Amino acid sequence: MRHPVLRAGKHIDTCHFAGDDLETTFHLGIFLNEELLGICSFFKSNHNCITSKNQYQLRGMAILKEFQGKGLGNIILNFGENLLREQNTQVIWCNAREVAVNFYLKTGYKTIGNTFNIKDIGIHYMMYKNLNIY
Ligand SMILES: CC(C)(COP(=O)(O)OP(=O)(O)OC[C@H]1O[C@@H](n2cnc3c(N)ncnc32)[C@H](O)[C@@H]1OP(=O)(O)O)[C@@H](O)C(=O)NCCC(=O)NCCS
Repeated sequence: MRHPVLRAGKHIDTCHFAGDDLETTFHLGIFLNEELLGICSFFKSNHNCITSKNQYQLRGMAILKEFQGKGLGNIILNFGENLLREQNTQVIWCNAREVAVNFYLKTGYKTIGNTFNIKDIGIHYMMYKNLNIY
């Protein structure tokens, strides 16, 4: 799923993220019958711009192209955020692609700092959400 949606045309090795196999990392998938339609992953990681002790980073947020814009991204992300709330995570953050910024803004994320470039992928914004505010 990461390959077609997030790393199209790139080597499959670029789809492995450091920390994918850590015990503190979890991966979610959203399915229709047996078919995987979307994914996202949550990594225990503190960002130095945020002071809260318990933070998680969202990575690999991807919905198959033909299923985008149908609410699936919202469903899977909200599910993950609720799991994080249950384990007392205070803040979730991500490096958001420019094209996805509005998606995150709509679900309560805020941008922080300046944009930055991630090589071969493009302009990103650091975004975060306080999980204690509903
Ligand atoms: C970004 C992405 C995960 C969003 O998932 P999705 O299932 O398409 O989004 P949803 O249908 O749940 O949309 C939720 C809301 O965000 C809005 N939204 C979704 N994608 C958007 C986008 N790219 N730009 C602006 N608004 C967007 C929707 O209009 C919807 O708003 P509404 O509730 O007012 O109708 C998905 O489009 C995707 O995989 N994109 C390609 C990969 C990518 O950019 N991933 C993010 C990397 S940081």
